[in-house]
Amino acid sequence: MAVEPVVYGASERPPRGDYSRAGADYTCPQNYAAYTAADHATYHKLYERQSALVPGLACDEFLAALPSLGAKDQIPRFEDINERLFKATGWEVVAVPGLIPEVPFFTLLANRKFPVTDWIRTPAEFDYIVEPDVFHDLFGHVPLLFEPVFADHIQAYGAGGLKAHRLGACEQLSRLYWYTIEFGLMRQKNGLRAYGAGILSSSGELVHAVKSGEPQRIALDVLRAMRTRYKIDSYQQTYFVIDSFQQLFDMTTPDFTPLYAQLKHLSELPADALLPEDKLIER
Ligand code: PHE
Ligand code: FE
Repeated sequence: MAVEPVVYGASERPPRGDYSRAGADYTCPQNYAAYTAADHATYHKLYERQSALVPGLACDEFLAALPSLGAKDQIPRFEDINERLFKATGWEVVAVPGLIPEVPFFTLLANRKFPVTDWIRTPAEFDYIVEPDVFHDLFGHVPLLFEPVFADHIQAYGAGGLKAHRLGACEQLSRLYWYTIEFGLMRQKNGLRAYGAGILSSSGELVHAVKSGEPQRIALDVLRAMRTRYKIDSYQQTYFVIDSFQQLFDMTTPDFTPLYAQLKHLSELPADALLPEDKLIER
């Protein structure tokens, strides 16, 4: 088929999914029959390890929604998740062969369809994978789609992405995605907790992000995050912290057009930058 397997982001490796299965919107049927017993076992082991680790480290909303993912001992069927998810927030998960280009990605999100890579990592990648696989996408992203405010935020992000594309600001907006939806932390009653999918689906980074003294943690400022480069192949050096999903939603509701114009005149910041105006958050 005529779709281009374009990867956005800094990765130079070709994506490994089979894009000949994808339709014009880059979605495909979940290839459930293709999973081997070893694939299901990998999912089961990842789920066991991660679900044992999240109490005390993941935000309350995530912990409350995690059981809604369903099957633990095998890769869930997306249609099974959708029965519950659609009722909860009107979202659906759709299968994709891997990373997809910006415009189809934003379009799916704006329509409350979350693209989930359908293949699973190899045992050699058990601890860390650079590309999203079905475990990262399901365990990391899908539970919070059951949370109404965050669910609305992701849809708004999709619509905002289409606008950023028209304004040539996708790189800036994708940094905000990285530092919130992928690697965001939240201050909750009992302390710092993770809500970003890249943290929640990684055993090493979950502890690093929430507990380690190494990284710096800065109160989220939208413009600041959009200026900041990020690393895709190591733990983050900087995490941005919110107080609630409502706060994140409210901070990102204003029209970003003037911010994008401002960013054209501001220098980019390295991943470990610390500015005098940054509000550091203690563990
Ligand atoms: N408010 C942003 C804009 O006008 C869109 C957006 C919403 C971006 C939510 C990120 C998250 O472009
Ligand atoms: Fe992700």
